[in-house]
Amino acid sequence: MAYREIYAGWQADPEAFWLEAARQIDWTTEPSKALNDARAPLYEWFTDAQVNTCWNAVDRHVLAGRGRQAAIIHDSPVTGTKHVITFAELQERVARLAGALRAKGVEKGDRVIIYMPMVPEALEAMLACARLGAIHSVVFGGFAAAELAVRIDDCTPKAIIAASCGIEPARVVHYKPLLDAAIDMAHHKPTFCVILQREQEVATLVEGRDVAWHSFQYGVAPAECVSVAGNHPAYILYTSGTTGAPKGVVRPTAGHLVALNWTMRAIYDCGPGDVFWAASDVGWVVGHSYICYAPLIAGCTTIVFEGKPVGTPDAGTFWRVIEEHKVRAFFTAPTALRAIKREDPDGLLPGTFDLSRLNALYLAGERADPDTIHWAQTHIKVPVIDHWWQTETGFAIAANPLGIEALPVKVGSPSVAMPGFDVQILDEGGHGVPPGTLGAVAIKLPLPPGTLPTLWNAEDRFKKSYLSHFPGFYETGDAGFVDDDGYIYIMARTDDVINVAGHRLSTGAMEEVLSGHKDVAECAVIGVADDLKGQSPLGFLCLNKGASRDPAEVVRECITLMREKIGPVADFKRAVVVDRLPKTRSGKILRGTMVKIADGAVWKMPATIDDPAILDEITLALQSLGLAKGG
Ligand code: COA
Ligand code: AMP
Repeated sequence: MAYREIYAGWQADPEAFWLEAARQIDWTTEPSKALNDARAPLYEWFTDAQVNTCWNAVDRHVLAGRGRQAAIIHDSPVTGTKHVITFAELQERVARLAGALRAKGVEKGDRVIIYMPMVPEALEAMLACARLGAIHSVVFGGFAAAELAVRIDDCTPKAIIAASCGIEPARVVHYKPLLDAAIDMAHHKPTFCVILQREQEVATLVEGRDVAWHSFQYGVAPAECVSVAGNHPAYILYTSGTTGAPKGVVRPTAGHLVALNWTMRAIYDCGPGDVFWAASDVGWVVGHSYICYAPLIAGCTTIVFEGKPVGTPDAGTFWRVIEEHKVRAFFTAPTALRAIKREDPDGLLPGTFDLSRLNALYLAGERADPDTIHWAQTHIKVPVIDHWWQTETGFAIAANPLGIEALPVKVGSPSVAMPGFDVQILDEGGHGVPPGTLGAVAIKLPLPPGTLPTLWNAEDRFKKSYLSHFPGFYETGDAGFVDDDGYIYIMARTDDVINVAGHRLSTGAMEEVLSGHKDVAECAVIGVADDLKGQSPLGFLCLNKGASRDPAEVVRECITLMREKIGPVADFKRAVVVDRLPKTRSGKILRGTMVKIADGAVWKMPATIDDPAILDEITLALQSLGLAKGG
């Protein structure tokens, strides 16, 4: 059946569509219905079912005779190691780890924070939690201790599972001191921590609190899978919002299983035995959905890659991995391709590898620029599929569903809405706009299975952030348009979120950090265009009256402060001291105008500006950084 028929079939009878998709999942108790709208506009899916995620991702494949198939391939150019774990081994390892966690008191509903680099044990920890019905929250390794502490206080974990270290090309990331500092800072204290000691760095354990990954598993009885209700949270994943407090996106168990399994065939055209590779990190939603859960649920082999697109050792690494492990579907961020393209502009390296098993290359996480897509189409010689999604949805809202039908690619568009998503473009008043008109991208409620039902401990914030602006719709926070053929174009965020190297960051959170500097009276952070990373943060600092500090020194201190408070992932390397910030007469900082000036884009003097002369000063400051050329 073609895409349009399938989409129309879903629109005509969503209940039947999702119950049919649910037949691919092993249930302890099958759902009697799909949608639960008893608390609309808050929705749930498969509420009355009982199910276990780990069973579906691991055990059922062993039972079906796939025990000897590779489940996880760890390919780690930064440590020079490779390692294969079969489904049978994975079952054994996860059951033992779950048994050890249970023996120390972790039960269904308890939270467990996972703070680990790209090692298979990170996936094992996620699956062990799923086995017990414990709710994991994975924290990306590039965050500082303070960010980890915020997450500890918000989800109050019984346990934290961490590694001794991570390896970045230029340095060792000392996870354990970061973890210890975070626990010191947090009000909530975990009962215990499990530490995976890596060869590259052995951490000191805190007596009475920390246990070593291997020794705490000796002699424990392996744990069986614990069934949970369909609406039980599988995990919490924190993501950036408008303020410094991250949003805890809740992922519901049953919908997650059904939706991810559906995407593996429909979007990625992969099934049991195929090799799937998402070159992301377990700390992001792509890592949750497409390094860990979806490939395993579908019986595929997943690759855990611990390296970078360039420099580990060179710009051919991705193509080497695809050849060596016979990857069928490959998923990465446009930034990674831009990094490769910069080192191999003529695309010579891909041709030196056998990429014949590769069926398609998928891009997401940020806008895919046409140059990068053309480079990849020319040199990788497979369809390049841009698809659009968010941490909140957990899978693609818009894509080109290769497993259903390869639709014509329109460069610059992540193609069309997937079943489950009724995407509409609205004006400020919430009215639909004609094709080709830019507006807020909204999705008619209910959202499909697997998407966020709420935010952890913050139902009001959930309603306020996503449901209140356009009643009856979910507000994506993206601006864009739809063309006459129904292709969606995602152009920019409508909020303070910026996208740096495919990482979602909050300028509001960065401003809170800068305001914490003793000499900063006022500040603004904007995202300016960056050839490699899409956007790059830039700070404007107004110093306290009478502060007789060297501006360059304050800038340096602010850069260090950002690294300490948010972490290296913020990639905050530039700031400039100015006398005043441009504002409207009502006092709102004109960030949008500053972005346009910085990017050298065409801009208009805002009618509401308080003092137009300030923009001259801003332009000069930006020019001193090599920005604001033209416009
Ligand atoms: N743990 C600790 N630190 C990390 C980290 C991790 N997992 N990941 C990144 N960092 C650090 C980097 O070391 C860097 O630190 P530095 O300031 O000391 O150099 C900083 O965070 C910024 O990292 P990044 O923005 O990734 O820049 P980079 O220069 O190290 O690498 C690319 C550039 C293009 C190679 C890299 O950004 C990349 O691979 N991007 C693809 C992103 C991606 O796949 N995103 C997934 C979203 S779907
Ligand atoms: P995250 O929650 O980190 O996945 O970030 C989600 C945001 O990244 C979206 O709201 C978009 O702003 C942006 N994004 C993700 N994928 C795409 C895409 N294919 N095209 C344009 N923007 C994208």
